[in-house]
Amino acid sequence: MFELKNKVAVVTGGARGIGQAIAISLAKQGCDVVVGDIINGENTVKKIKSLRRKSMFLMVDTSDGRSIKNMIKETVKSFKRIDILVNNAGIYRAGESENFSEEDWSKIIKVNLSGYFLCCKEAFPYLKRSKGNIVNVASIAGLMGFSQSAAYCASKGGIIMLTKTLAGDWGQYGIRVNAVCPGIIRTAMTTGILSSKQAKRGMLMKLPIKRIGNPEDIANGVVYLVSKEASYVTGTTLVIDGGWTSML
Ligand code: NAI
Repeated sequence: MFELKNKVAVVTGGARGIGQAIAISLAKQGCDVVVGDIINGENTVKKIKSLRRKSMFLMVDTSDGRSIKNMIKETVKSFKRIDILVNNAGIYRAGESENFSEEDWSKIIKVNLSGYFLCCKEAFPYLKRSKGNIVNVASIAGLMGFSQSAAYCASKGGIIMLTKTLAGDWGQYGIRVNAVCPGIIRTAMTTGILSSKQAKRGMLMKLPIKRIGNPEDIANGVVYLVSKEASYVTGTTLVIDGGWTSML
């Protein structure tokens, strides 16, 4: 099941957290993986190589179109093809909407939304050639509002619509485009919120499955979506949230 042998995957934000788990899970299924990140991702590369798959780290800033172009160019130079693109690099900043700076708004939209679009656009010719596919890591914050998170929620909602639209546009080329929506997952991004016992208790109360998610919970969903077992699945959003959004 989920055989992905010799597929070439690019995972942005693969140096740690959910992106790292995705990169390693794809390698376990037989993918060679390019890890793109703004911080050092050699640790992920080492883990992938220990699974006897090829891997390479590329420094990229996904808020910068030229940097994205370079990541795709260097990937193809070394690996000759791209079968899978996982857009995962993301940032979170909270703040009262009435006092939220234009700079913070723009930064979040650039990394979380424009960066996803530009990675899809640059990878398109190669995905067309391989009849490959894309998974965009969105969030349940793209499905419902969260307090003091207007920019983040807007960016994640945007990713869901970007996913649907590209699935519609590129289906004719054999390219599938899907999204995953994680709930609360234990990573560097959530260390702050999860260190508050009260906030953690509040979240656990909202979760029918009474635990905080692991990065691997998301990676498992991504492995399914990129596999040929999902060959009739496109434009969809797979919610992996321990049931959070199923309850009021
Ligand atoms: P994280 O902060 O541990 O990892 C994010 C990675 O993206 C880091 O390696 C970081 O260096 C990289 N990154 C950030 N800005 C970048 C840029 N401009 N260019 C290249 N790389 C950049 O966070 P986590 O939790 O692993 O998040 C991964 C994705 O999952 C994000 O898109 C996040 O919004 C999403 N998500 C996370 C949830 C959670 O509970 N942890 C919940 C829902 C969605």
